[in-house]
Amino acid sequence: MATRRSVLGAGIAVASTSVTGAALLPLIAARGAEAADTPAPTTSTTAPAVELFKVPMPLIPVARPVSTVGGVDTYESTTRKITKEILPGIRTELLTYDGLFPGATIRARRNRPVVLVQHNGLDVPISRHLHGASVAHDSDGGPMDTIAPGDTRVYHYPNKQPHASLWYHDHAHHVESENVYRGLHGSYLLGDTTEDALPLPRGRYDVLIALRDVDFDASGELLYAMGDRNRNTLLVNGATYPYFEVAARKYRLRFANTSNMRFFELRLADGGDLIQIGSDGGLLPSPHTTKSVYLSSGERADVVIDFSRYPVGTQLVLHNTAGRGPVEQVGQVMRFDVTRTADDPSSVPSVLRTLAPLPEPTNSRTVVLRMDEDGRPDAQAYMDDKVYDPERVDAVIRHGASEVWTVTNANTKAAHNFHMHLVQFRVLERGGAAAGPAESGLKDTVVLQPGETVRLQATFDTYAGEFVYHCHMLDHSAMGMMATMKIG
Ligand code: C2O
Ligand code: CU
Repeated sequence: MATRRSVLGAGIAVASTSVTGAALLPLIAARGAEAADTPAPTTSTTAPAVELFKVPMPLIPVARPVSTVGGVDTYESTTRKITKEILPGIRTELLTYDGLFPGATIRARRNRPVVLVQHNGLDVPISRHLHGASVAHDSDGGPMDTIAPGDTRVYHYPNKQPHASLWYHDHAHHVESENVYRGLHGSYLLGDTTEDALPLPRGRYDVLIALRDVDFDASGELLYAMGDRNRNTLLVNGATYPYFEVAARKYRLRFANTSNMRFFELRLADGGDLIQIGSDGGLLPSPHTTKSVYLSSGERADVVIDFSRYPVGTQLVLHNTAGRGPVEQVGQVMRFDVTRTADDPSSVPSVLRTLAPLPEPTNSRTVVLRMDEDGRPDAQAYMDDKVYDPERVDAVIRHGASEVWTVTNANTKAAHNFHMHLVQFRVLERGGAAAGPAESGLKDTVVLQPGETVRLQATFDTYAGEFVYHCHMLDHSAMGMMATMKIG
């Protein structure tokens, strides 16, 4: 059998006959901070070879409600174990929602509630969290609100918040990291009339692209080990390094980083423009033209690419210039193949939405994220020097408060990020400077490079009760980097 290196080399050679010929990234570890994660068990180095750009990118199916009575859409879902061909000729065991990897996309509408009936057909506890959503405590799918094997739970999603690119994933305490890694994740796109009124690409030109990584063992099964540094095979909508045939026109691509740990910095091989129009909590106030889009674990970005600038026949690789791993495995993500022309009535307006002005803050607090990074085998991860304890309340917040949180990554090598349940917040400052355009919208997850500090403002005027905040590198939250806020 060909070695992985030789096969990947061939993949790159093919690509280099196209627009991508230009320099094949020096770049990994340019931001190499997250390279220093601890601990670092050694797992597979013998994963089966994967050829680049051999399979079409799957389109993730949209879930259908089982009923739509009285303006409420009810969905039913069952988690189950399946095997699926990801590597050619090999069936890999996965944990899924309804046999789909990733899970089906729920398309919801603002002010139209969703009821989700979740059955657990697995032999491990689960908890289904709707990431980025404003929901009551008992529908949040928090770490302790688990569904035992064979049980069922009903979640209520009121969808009162503005449009947003939400996603769902497992959150069962201590097993969320492995459950999500093994396949329990999917998207939930909440639309509204603000978004509808814009002439953005829609329908088949509005495409979800869920990115993640995986570590296959020699037989093609998923290896899971906490802090594994060998999750170096990239999946796009569940397929390895696919190609996506596009028309020479604008597309709205909704990128979601569903990796446990990996960060991406996406760039077109020719250095062409990406127009970022949205982030976690929906559209940015105005479009941001950029050469790269950075996504830490759990973050989302809506990007318009205008393929009309490329002649039909162009093959354009999407590069990744962040994160650890061998460049030949993690430096290329997928390829866009421009195969046809098409009409394009879409456009990107210079104003996308108006965000409400920030209220006067009523309180401020600091949060420090840190983990043991000295390589000790029993490394733990902390929020304000404490390991997560579900019995403890770490932050008491008055209902209605608008708070400024100064969040610092106290590690010198390990990167983290910061996610709050319940709220979409605004990023005020990063490293003492005003937040950049990519963070000008509503956010629920922000990256924190080693030593970095971010100031954000969140307003707690919806649901009362207990919700968690944590690092969304799920191996870290499972190691303790999580805490509880109590609003009331
Ligand atoms: Cu995406 Cu607490 O989660
Ligand atoms: Cu972390």
